[in-house]
Formats: sequence, structure tokens, C-alpha cells
Amino acid sequence: MDQENRGKADILIVDDEPNARKVLTAILAGEGYNVYASPDVAGAMDLMGARNIDAAITDLRMPGGDGTAFLDFVRERHPGTPVIFLTAYGTVESAVQDLTKGAFYYFVKPPDFLKLKKMLEQAVEHRRLKSEVESLKARLDCRRRMSLIGGTDGMLKAAEMIESVKDTASSVLISGETGTGKEMAARALHYGSARKDMPFVAVNCAAIPAGLLESELFGYEKGAFTGACARRIGMFEKAGAGTLFLDEIGELGHPLQAKLLRVLDERQMQRIGGDRWIKMNFRLVCSTNRDLGEEVKKGNFREDLFYRINVVHVNMPPLRARAEDLPVLAAHFLNEYCRREGKRLLIPADVMGILKKYTWPGNVRQLKNVVERAVVLASGQAITAEELPPEISCFKRRHPLSAAPKTLRELEVQAVRKVLAQCSGNKSRAAKVLGISRKSFYKKLGGAF
Ligand SMILES: Nc1ncnc2c1ncn2[C@@H]1O[C@H](COP(=O)(O)OP(=O)(O)OP(=O)(O)O)[C@@H](O)[C@H]1O
Ligand SMILES: [Mg+2]
Repeated sequence: MDQENRGKADILIVDDEPNARKVLTAILAGEGYNVYASPDVAGAMDLMGARNIDAAITDLRMPGGDGTAFLDFVRERHPGTPVIFLTAYGTVESAVQDLTKGAFYYFVKPPDFLKLKKMLEQAVEHRRLKSEVESLKARLDCRRRMSLIGGTDGMLKAAEMIESVKDTASSVLISGETGTGKEMAARALHYGSARKDMPFVAVNCAAIPAGLLESELFGYEKGAFTGACARRIGMFEKAGAGTLFLDEIGELGHPLQAKLLRVLDERQMQRIGGDRWIKMNFRLVCSTNRDLGEEVKKGNFREDLFYRINVVHVNMPPLRARAEDLPVLAAHFLNEYCRREGKRLLIPADVMGILKKYTWPGNVRQLKNVVERAVVLASGQAITAEELPPEISCFKRRHPLSAAPKTLRELEVQAVRKVLAQCSGNKSRAAKVLGISRKSFYKKLGGAF
């Protein structure tokens, strides 16, 4: 690496001995690095949060928290940053243990500075490559997660709402029955926004016992309560300037509702047992499969918190209200599972007819599972009714999904919607397929948007 590149790398030195810090700082600054130094682990943790540190060099034994605790912290919060240990003779054994826990390298004090410089270059290069791979992976993931399939009115409304608010800081509440794609919509919102390179942190309020949820969200300081053996960073902090997704927010008990409201109002919080105020920058997205308005009326959910989280409302429609989307979704999942199983299968019209008749209480998730099961079971070239669960293949709908279209105009709207669904809601592409302009495309839909 040349001097110019080195100048861009930020190095953190953690050592309680002023002289050791001074010497190392001078040597590395002379090499063109930006050097930050801290006499203790707490200060080092703060610097890690405030700066984009490329590599850290830490002493092993320090008063008030040792290098191992620092390594744990870096591995949890900044997993891409390599940590090099400097250790006094006699503590080599524990340094070797740290190496197996993920430290980059260790040197016995006083280190051979030439070797240390070489190792630091490698560490910085390692981090650069790692973050390049991570960002490529994130971009791929983001594309996968963005593909909310569906072109029916309700889905387009949801997708358009997500698109229009993605770069604001407003809180978003996503409602809908189970399996309608609420979490997928939250991810689409995050990965389509300017926050996409920041964390997306999901917390399922229904899955974590009420007693644990507070420490999960706020984190705690060492010794805050029995069993708190080390500082733990909570989800509020982990979300950083990214998105915090509170899944099933309706399950939050009253005491935590009050605490969440305070964090949202003050945009700062304290870890449990801590006295330092920490600024919060996350964007809040919540989901619920309950009618939160009703829960407010019943006194189960605070009205002030409801208004705070429901600044923007996105509703995910149930699958039974999205008849035109069903074949497109089924084909999408068929493709996905055929690729995984190395099979080539079709869904014939009679089987698609059965799928369309069903009411899908588990919505898209249920359809996905049914298609997966059928693909695994199928032995021929097409899915047959026998490969569907009996509750679906024997299902009789009491009321037909939609009445037969009556007018030529209705038939035209239905056909246009079908093409739109086949184009995953992409209006320009659908207009192109139909050979008409975007403007007349809208007209044909009769101002349905
Ligand atoms: N529009 C869609 N396009 C493609 N896949 C979808 C779509 N909607 C949902 N899915 C898939 O269906 C499954 C369920 O979606 P998700 O977990 O987002 O639902 P949910 O509303 O959060 O459900 P729950 O209320 O049970 O938590 C996921 O595997 C998701 O990938
Ligand atoms: Mg969910």
C-alpha cells in the first residue's frame, strides 16, 4: 500500500501506558495513518462508534476492562474491524486464546515495529476487502428483498406509499394479516432507502418474554442486575442510523409502551444501570396484525404512542383480496423451489383453479409453503391436485371470489390489471407490453391509482 492510501486509514490505539500510546501514535502518524488513542476500553468503545476505524491495536491488560472485553465489543458491533493485541511477556497464553476468538494477530511487548507496521497494512487491506464483499452481498440481498410481487390495487398502493416515504424520517406502521408480507415490506422500505448501508434491526415483540424485552431493547451496563456480567448493547443502539423494525408492536406491555414513547420523544436513552444519555438516530418501522385503533379503544395500547408510530400507515392486503396476484406469486415460488430442487415443473390450469378458489388464511406465507411442499412431492412434469394439502384440494368456497365481469369496460380493466401483475407492478413495462402509452394505460385503469 502506498503512502497516499495509508493516509486514509484510521487506526485506534488502546493502551493505559501514556508512553506506549505516545510512541506508537508518533510512529503510525509518521507512516501516514490517522491515529486515535484511548487510555481505556470505555473511551475506545466510544471512539469506535464515533469514527470509522479501519484497525485497532490494543493492550491486553488494562485497569477498568481488558483488551478481551474490547475484542468482544468489536466483534459484536464492528465485526469487520481487525484487532491486533499487544501483550506483556507472561500473558501470551491468553493472547493466543484471543487469537482463536477472532483477534487478527498479537505481538509481545515491546513489539518489532517493522513487523507491526507490515501486519497493520495487512489488517487494513483485510478490512477493505471484507467491507467490499459485504457491500456486494448487501446489494444482492437488497435486490432480492425488494421484490415485493403484486400488481393489484392494494399492493400497488402499499408499494407506492413505501416508495414515497422511504427517505423521510417518519415512523411507519405496517398492518396486515399474518403472512401478508409486512416484514418484507419493512425490508423493502429500508433497503430501498438512503439508510440501506446502515443496519436493519428486527425485534419480534411477541417472541421475546416481556421481562427480557426491555434489556433486549435498551441494553445494560455491567452489574446493572444479577447476571449482567458484561455491558450489553441493546437493539436501539444496534440500529444506529438504520432502521429499527418492531414486529408485532401490539404485544408490547404498558410499561414498555411508556418507555418506548419516551425514547421516541426525546431521541435519546440510557442503558439499564447506566447514567449516560445516548442519542438515537434510527428510523422506526412497526408492524401489527391487530387493529391497533381498536386496541387503543379497549385501553390495551397507549393512544399517544399509537399516533407517534402511525405517522405513515401502510396496509398489506390479504391474499384473498388479491386474486390477480395469486398466479404470479405461485409462479415465482414455483421457480424458486424448482431451482433449489433441480426440477422443471408446471402448475396446470386445473391446479391453479384450485389455488384460486382457496381463501388463504395464512396468506402469502401459506402459498409459499404449499408450493414448496408440492415441488418436493411432485415426480412428473406438472404439479397435480394430489400434491396439495387436502384442506386446499377439497376446499369449497361458499361465495365466489369475484362476480363475472359484466361489461366490455370491466373486461378491459381486468386484462390490463393482469398484465400489470405479470410485470410485477411495473407500470411502464406493462404499458409497453400492451403497446400503449403510460398515460392511456392509466386511463384504461379508470383512475384506479
Ligand atoms: N409480495 C410478496 N412477494 C414475494 N414474497 C412475499 C410477498 N409477500 C410475502 N412474501 C413471502 O411470504 C413470507 C411471509 O412474509 P412476511 O414474513 O413478510 O409476512 P408477515 O406479514 O410479516 O407475517 P407475520 O404477521 O406472520 O409475521 C415470506 O417468506 C416472504 O418472503
Ligand atoms: Mg412478520
